[in-house]
Amino acid sequence: MMKRIALIACLAIFVASLAGAQTVVGSKHDLSAALPVSQRVCVFCHTPHQPEGPPQINYYPLWNHELSTVAAYGTYDSGTFDAGTGGAALNTIADIGGGTAVSNLCMSCHDDTVGVGTLYNDPNIAAGEETPTNAATLISAIGTGSANMGTDLTNDHPVNFTYDNALFLADTELVDPTNAAVAPLLIAGTVQCSSCHDVHDPTFLPFLVASNANSALCLTCHVK
Ligand code: HEC
Ligand code: HEC
Ligand code: HEC
Ligand code: HEC
Repeated sequence: MMKRIALIACLAIFVASLAGAQTVVGSKHDLSAALPVSQRVCVFCHTPHQPEGPPQINYYPLWNHELSTVAAYGTYDSGTFDAGTGGAALNTIADIGGGTAVSNLCMSCHDDTVGVGTLYNDPNIAAGEETPTNAATLISAIGTGSANMGTDLTNDHPVNFTYDNALFLADTELVDPTNAAVAPLLIAGTVQCSSCHDVHDPTFLPFLVASNANSALCLTCHVK
């Protein structure tokens, strides 16, 4: 009996560890790590009050990082890209107004035009804590590594286009967008950075929504 209980307990811990998501704290998106005193992690992207906007629908997701003013990042295109002609350019503020283009939130740091520590609504400062002004100075740029995507997305996996039944029929080598594994990856029916990335969770580096071992993530949507 004891053995069986121990076995069940072990299994429970094992299953929990498989399901367990990690946290943004301590990840590369924990920008407070670069500051000597600040202990705020979420503040670089969110604020509980007075967030940026409108035009974001319902102020989602209570955004606190200065948005980029880049008008358009261009769109990936090719002879076989069926969403090409219909794919709208990834414009910054106007598209967030549609509630879909959350990719613009990522680009507010990853296009390297706004300081990583440049916040919209400065937090109240506890004694001894870094001021946002310090944050902007201390963490000024995304750096020169591959996380710096620049302002041209024509050479990246397409984002900000509709992945619907018409596209599924036109391409013939896509998984049906209503498929139980695909549907949760779409944001208001569109492919965005967050279709593949979870900004909060470093479990599957680099911040992927699921393991890409044997290209499993790619094969969730592509029949290849
Ligand atoms: C580096 C930027 C960044 C940091 C840091 C960050 N978030 Fe987010 N968060 C986002 C983005 C971007 C979204 C929009 C959804 C998406 O694109 O994945 C979001 C969405 C959310 C949402 C709404 C959608 C959901 O996933 O439930 C909540 C709640 C949230 N974040 C809470 C937090 C909390 C709490 C922290 C700190 C522990 C935090 N976030 C830190 C970028 C960030
Ligand atoms: C507040 C600024 C900020 C925002 C907003 C932000 N990032 Fe980042 N991101 C960073 C920084 C800083 C790094 C670390 C760069 C480095 O180490 O060279 C990073 C790293 C990454 C990495 C690489 C992680 C690794 O392990 O190498 C990915 C992937 C990434 N971000 C995706 C996203 C996506 C997707 C979004 C939007 C959903 C987003 N980021 C929003 C600042 C940001
Ligand atoms: C179709 C899936 C997909 C989409 C959409 C996507 N990414 Fe990625 N991204 C990946 C994968 C997979 C990797 C890991 C690549 C590797 O390790 O070679 C990656 C890597 C990265 C990295 C790490 C640096 C690098 O080039 O390896 C950053 C930063 C990043 N993505 C940001 C973004 C941002 C910002 C967007 C939206 C504009 C985005 N990604 C859209 C799948 C995607
Ligand atoms: C969330 C679903 C999704 C995921 C995950 C995804 N893709 Fe895509 N990808 C698409 C859709 C939809 C298109 C547009 C297809 C079209 O219009 O022809 C596309 C387009 C592409 C294209 C351009 C096709 C062309 O005809 O020019 C390539 C290449 C590609 N994806 C490779 C990948 C790779 C590699 C991965 C994994 C790192 C990946 N995709 C992950 C949905 C996804």
